[in-house]
Amino acid sequence: MNLFSHLECPLCHTTYDPRQIQTYCHEDFHPLLAKYNLQLGLSKSNLSSRPHDMWRYRELLPLNNDQFKTSLGEGFTPIIDLNTLGKKHNQRLLMLKDEALNPTGSFKARGLSMAISKVKELGLRKVSIPTAGNAGSAVSAYATRANIKAKVFMPKLTPNVFQLDNEIMGVHVHKVPGTIVDAAQSMKNQLDDTWFDLSTLKEPYRLEGKKTMGYEIAEQLNWQLPDVIIYPTGGGTGLIGIYKAFEEMQALGWIKDIPTRMISVQVDGCAPIVQAYIKGVAHAKKIESPAPTIANGLRVPSAFGDRLILDTIRKSKGSAIAVSDSDIMHAMRHFAQNEGIFLCPEGAATFAAYEELTLEGLISPDDQVLLINTGSAYKYIENIMEYELAGFQPLVHVLN
Ligand SMILES: Cc1ncc(COP(=O)(O)O)c(C=O)c1O
Repeated sequence: MNLFSHLECPLCHTTYDPRQIQTYCHEDFHPLLAKYNLQLGLSKSNLSSRPHDMWRYRELLPLNNDQFKTSLGEGFTPIIDLNTLGKKHNQRLLMLKDEALNPTGSFKARGLSMAISKVKELGLRKVSIPTAGNAGSAVSAYATRANIKAKVFMPKLTPNVFQLDNEIMGVHVHKVPGTIVDAAQSMKNQLDDTWFDLSTLKEPYRLEGKKTMGYEIAEQLNWQLPDVIIYPTGGGTGLIGIYKAFEEMQALGWIKDIPTRMISVQVDGCAPIVQAYIKGVAHAKKIESPAPTIANGLRVPSAFGDRLILDTIRKSKGSAIAVSDSDIMHAMRHFAQNEGIFLCPEGAATFAAYEELTLEGLISPDDQVLLINTGSAYKYIENIMEYELAGFQPLVHVLN
């Protein structure tokens, strides 16, 4: 039985029909959230016999008919104890959830498995997306599998591998000067509304796939949540989704408290959420001309879900911090040399943030800390090589 009941704007509380395709609240210009009949209850013991992928939380996902499920085995990525670094930092427990092991090499697989399944269930045939890279690869894979047409728009300054893997799957990529915001504008200018817009949080389904990270974290840690989660934030679906899962599990009685402080990491050339968090305001101001970075997924000058991201950080008593490309490269090497794990730049940013936050006393030795490596380092080889070649100077993208 599916517990999905409706979609709702968290600002005006208008409800939306779950049997029709929905986008966002046009009144408040705000994302919609999927709501479930959690009071009907669901026992976590149901999970024990199910396959280890994100669809084991089936009742808590907004798909009505399994016939439309479009899956490549996404989810249930490992949580790895970081024994060496944990000891060096005198940390009670330091862990990594490694999302690089998902199909198409990133956590974006979860959101797009969910969204493409829903799009198929609702009978749509064409989708489009602006992307910093990883979401494009996932759209191409899942749309192809579901026999749905896709178009992908990405900033020119994206490693070429992201264009290549989309095109190998037969999906055309439009490279656009500027940032993901410019790619979104170009998409809007070129496509009519027969193409369903999968932009971050402009539709409510991707978030539901991403939230399965939160369910997994609880289940894998024997229903004891960590004290701190550090998450690299661009559009913010990962951070919002994990916490949404925690709140749903609390309503279901699967967990008692939510002790977890959600920490958002951005890059110092593009840190709208960090700036808004420090100023204490509800909305983030768009960053004009954000600096290039090796962490493409974090070059998001304005996030549609800014309010939800900031709410999540604040209600969890978390924090937000910016790191530099040089911090990221240093963290990437240090991490790899101690743990044998090659983090993507966004993942390395979480370790750079962890080191800084321990120095500032915002993480104490007694905390149990979970870092999220959101994607595969191997897709960023071009960025890393260029950065190294430039002698640790600010990135100049020679290939674009
Ligand atoms: C590897 C990686 N990490 C983090 C992010 C940011 O994710 P979110 O939009 O959930 O904040 C992205 C987005 O493109 C990404 O590709």
